Amino acid sequence: MSFYEKKILPKVLDLLCGSSPINYQRKKIVPKVSGNVLEIGIGSGLNLPHYNVSNISNITALDPAEELTDIAKKRISELDLDIDVINCGAEEIPLESKSFDSILVTYTLCSIENLDDSMKEIRRVIKDDGTLFFCEHGIAPDLKTKNWQDRINPIWKRLMGGCNINRDIPEIISNSKLEIVDLETMFLPGTPRIAGFNYWGTARTN
Ligand SMILES: C[S@@+](CC[C@H](N)C(=O)[O-])C[C@H]1O[C@@H](n2cnc3c(N)ncnc32)[C@H](O)[C@@H]1O
Repeated sequence: MSFYEKKILPKVLDLLCGSSPINYQRKKIVPKVSGNVLEIGIGSGLNLPHYNVSNISNITALDPAEELTDIAKKRISELDLDIDVINCGAEEIPLESKSFDSILVTYTLCSIENLDDSMKEIRRVIKDDGTLFFCEHGIAPDLKTKNWQDRINPIWKRLMGGCNINRDIPEIISNSKLEIVDLETMFLPGTPRIAGFNYWGTARTN
């Protein structure tokens, strides 16, 4: 791992993902999770202040990047939360099938390399009556921005730890045999259009 990836990128991601428009988005989705919760790709823990702990029985979180989960663990201790953090990718989740009421994924489906296996695993660990809560950025609705996304994506991906700006989030979720039950979209204010088209909502097993 390069010096940039180990020392600089975690701080860059923490800063960018902690912007006001993104925090505003987190407030729309994170407080809704309840029961036994799994957060996919906790990163530096920017969702932590938004959990409504009174509705939650347990939180488990996973992320393969130790340099980010070290920051998350510090935040967990400062907020006095009890969260199990597992350093692994979503491609192989070391947890029981059908065990989570809520799965939360924010600004992470852009960065997972093996989406097919990861979505199968998410589908496996969610309870039959469970809910996937998502808030992601992805492919823009207009051709001009889409074309720019495709042009910039290779360099963006290299600089941003594998993040893709041009993924079709609803398609990724629907292909995993989860049914999207509500979906909202918009360009985030104060955010470059190529990285600022947001999708958020919920999906359930079908
Ligand atoms: C842009 S950051 C977002 C972090 C956090 N979810 C948030 O909302 O701030 C993308 C995250 O995806 C994580 N990630 C990358 N590959 C992953 C995988 N295979 N499984 C789970 N998380 C992954 C990265 O380590 C990073 O924490």
